[in-house]
Amino acid sequence: MKIAYTVKEVREQVKIWRKEGLTVGLVPTMGYLHEGHASLMKKAVEQNDKVVASVFLNPMQFGPTEDLESYPRDFEQDCKLCDSIGVDMVFHPEPEEMYAPDFCTCVDMDVLSKTLCGKSRPIHFRGVCTVVTKLFNIVTPDRAYFGQKDAQQLAIIRRMVRDLNMDIEIVGCPIIREEDGLAKSSRNTYLNEEERQAALVLSKAIFLGQKMVEDGERDAATVKKAMIELIEAEPLAKIDYVEVVDGLSMQPVDTYTEPTLTAMAVYIGKTRLIDNFIFE
Ligand code: PAF
Repeated sequence: MKIAYTVKEVREQVKIWRKEGLTVGLVPTMGYLHEGHASLMKKAVEQNDKVVASVFLNPMQFGPTEDLESYPRDFEQDCKLCDSIGVDMVFHPEPEEMYAPDFCTCVDMDVLSKTLCGKSRPIHFRGVCTVVTKLFNIVTPDRAYFGQKDAQQLAIIRRMVRDLNMDIEIVGCPIIREEDGLAKSSRNTYLNEEERQAALVLSKAIFLGQKMVEDGERDAATVKKAMIELIEAEPLAKIDYVEVVDGLSMQPVDTYTEPTLTAMAVYIGKTRLIDNFIFE
């Protein structure tokens, strides 16, 4: 497996693959890879001749009071995982390689990025759209892989690709959970033992809401209320949002029609975790 640190190295390698007529899949990540990332990479290996995984902790998508500095990193372990899955190249640039000192061009999105996580993280999706666009331009993949856990991010990237005529297939992959239900996340590592237990309230609320909808409940307020009550019973949990939104526009809806996304962000102590289910 090749490790590339510069844009030039990636471009040279991809050019060779293209000359050989090979397809290329891209899995963008911020590192500290877990089984969720592994599932994206496995899918990419299945569907493409060559796979690039990027490991780049993108400063542009973190607000000034967020966890950029403390975000977990283990590049050596990340490379081992990528190699074991059959990734062909890891792209691991320094921030200076991605952002020139006078960098001033951004990709921004209206509407979809203003609700849910966009409300409490106002610059987040501009950072995501910008770095993903850059990665698409550098790697020029046929397909790119994103997890359904970041449902709003996935919807935003699909919209960006459509709106800006990017010739890339976006493949969404299901949420991967721990055995007890907690959605896999690099940020789970912040939780102490007591918080780890308390964090189960997210998946419990998701499973409750999902069951209500499966059983025929279509009123968004009723489902939301039941989920919020369950979360509020956990003393270590503080709700950022629990929302029911249209699965494409990310705007609030009153009734479940397909596709509808039920998404939440909840603080467990200082750690902000997200989870969701989609009705489609
Ligand atoms: O989902 C993530 O890990 C990041 O937002 C992404 C897509 C790699 C962009 O930095």
